[in-house]
Amino acid sequence: MRNRNVQAESKPGRSAPLSRGLFRISLVALGTAAVAVALVAGCESEVERLIRPAVAGSLTILFSSDNQGVLVSCGCTSVPTGGLAKRQTIIDKYRRVRPNVLVVDAGNMFPDHPNALKVKYLAMILERAKYDAMGLGEQEFDMGVPKLQSMAGEYKLPFICANVRDAAGNPVVPPHVVRQTAGRRVGIFAVISDQAPPDAPSEWRKSLKVESPIEAAKREVHDLADCDLIVALSHQSRQRTEELAKQVPGIHVVVCGQDEAPLRQPLKVGETMIVATGPLGHVLGAVTYSLGAGGSPEVKMALSDLTAKVSDAGMVTDLYGKYIKQAKGEPPPEWAHLPVPVAYETAEDCAKCHEAEYKQWSPTRHANAYATLKKAGREQDPECLLCHTMGYGREGGFNAIDTTPRLANVTCQACHIVTSKHGVKGASPEAKQDPHKFINARLCMTCHGLMESPHFDFYAYKAKIAHNAPKAEKK
Ligand code: HEC
Ligand code: HEC
Ligand code: HEC
Ligand code: HEC
Repeated sequence: MRNRNVQAESKPGRSAPLSRGLFRISLVALGTAAVAVALVAGCESEVERLIRPAVAGSLTILFSSDNQGVLVSCGCTSVPTGGLAKRQTIIDKYRRVRPNVLVVDAGNMFPDHPNALKVKYLAMILERAKYDAMGLGEQEFDMGVPKLQSMAGEYKLPFICANVRDAAGNPVVPPHVVRQTAGRRVGIFAVISDQAPPDAPSEWRKSLKVESPIEAAKREVHDLADCDLIVALSHQSRQRTEELAKQVPGIHVVVCGQDEAPLRQPLKVGETMIVATGPLGHVLGAVTYSLGAGGSPEVKMALSDLTAKVSDAGMVTDLYGKYIKQAKGEPPPEWAHLPVPVAYETAEDCAKCHEAEYKQWSPTRHANAYATLKKAGREQDPECLLCHTMGYGREGGFNAIDTTPRLANVTCQACHIVTSKHGVKGASPEAKQDPHKFINARLCMTCHGLMESPHFDFYAYKAKIAHNAPKAEKK
């Protein structure tokens, strides 16, 4: 293999720096670390136990993306759940067993509906987690550059982005960072797509200049030429990330921050390796460079699925607890995308005239959504309450379980945006709305989002909640 001889490459050169050749190597991909059944041994999950010390002198880069502002995941059991608390447990484990670990993120760490208080706690958690580099995504830019700059200063967050400039032509954050570890220099730069994603508002693009990620990456590779290893954080689709790897030789690892699925095997484009953890921060990845048996260099990749079995790191849950306490005194987060009834009423109010539907609804999961939160110990979290109760934070909506117990849960008005007056003769016209008006997939999806309800399918789900299947079918 080319460049095997590290010594021969050791002269500090312009384009062939010390030991870079070490990393031009055969690729070994470890499979996923997800295992359905955790064997009980101590309190470590199987996912954690699969993380072993690597040989001396090795270097591990931990990567992820698309955390979507989740501090502690919602506790749903059907998919890997993600969240910073579980991610931190895996990071801590790596740091315990390996001497040289770098941690990077490829964007959308923050939520898409920023809740100022939660953003503050998220920043505090990230300060303690000590990431080495954080590429900016759409959701970071949506918060505004002044906010990002002040957070970077206050919480020492290593935000980087090489292809976005302000109106005066100045970079909004540093383009890259260089970290020294395992006796090597690791250069990390980040880029974001120059195309707005179809579903994101991307208002921020109007006031900032977004350069071609490929042009920016070429410049970065040139500027980082004295590094042993170059890592790119690409907040772009897989297709665009592959294009970047093709057009810009000299990058060792590209983390794709907007892939639709985790890459269980890394992709190779020339000498460059592309890795991705997929959506919603469900997975943490690790690339390890080491000398394998017989001194031949090796690169390995492993993914850890952040399942319900992975415990929540105390550092994160402590701060989460403080956030919840403080959130109690604050106005609830905004959630302004649903049509709302003129007044909130209980299912029992509707039951006066619709007993059969009420009876059918009562044992469903909608009617027990608050109990779910309580069981998970999360009934104080304002964001959970938004979907598991009615009208939380709105005039006349759910307030607390002792004052408004009948507005807990997902009641009739979640789907029928009417009041009892709709069936009353002579009621005012505004009280006589059509009870079917908003029932469609969009309505359901205000609560059945990708994160909370990954398998949502309107027809399959509608059949499950139909009060009376034949009638429900006819519409
Ligand atoms: C005072 C009695 C009364 C109350 C209380 C009442 N309804 Fe009705 N509802 C009716 C009558 C009568 C009809 C059938 C006539 C119509 O469509 O307006 C009806 C029909 C409906 C329909 C079906 C409409 C159709 O065209 O098939 C829905 C859905 C509905 N109501 C929802 C609700 C909800 C939700 C509540 C509680 C917020 C509620 N109703 C409270 C009397 C009532
Ligand atoms: C106000 C928010 C909200 C709206 C609107 C909503 N849901 Fe739900 N739905 C929930 C919550 C919360 C749960 C989970 C309840 C639990 O288990 O605690 C749920 C659970 C369900 C389930 C049970 C899933 C299962 O696997 O058994 C079905 C089915 C369902 N919803 C269908 C629908 C359909 C269809 C619509 C639209 C017509 C809809 N929902 C609208 C919040 C909502
Ligand atoms: C955007 C609306 C929304 C928010 C916010 C939300 N949920 Fe849910 N939750 C749902 C829906 C919808 C379901 C049902 C999903 C399904 O079965 O498809 C659900 C299901 C659940 C379940 C049952 C999962 C299972 O598989 O049994 C738990 C537990 C839960 N949510 C907890 C939480 C917690 C804790 C929070 C706050 C961190 C939260 N939810 C926030 C909408 C929401
Ligand atoms: C998760 C959404 C959802 C919830 C919650 C819900 N409904 Fe419905 N409801 C529907 C759907 C869907 C239909 C079928 C008609 C349609 O497709 O427009 C329907 C139909 C109805 C009808 C028309 C007759 C029938 O049985 O098909 C009545 C009356 C009604 N609902 C009353 C209620 C009452 C009362 C409650 C609360 C106890 C309630 N609904 C809760 C979604 C919901």
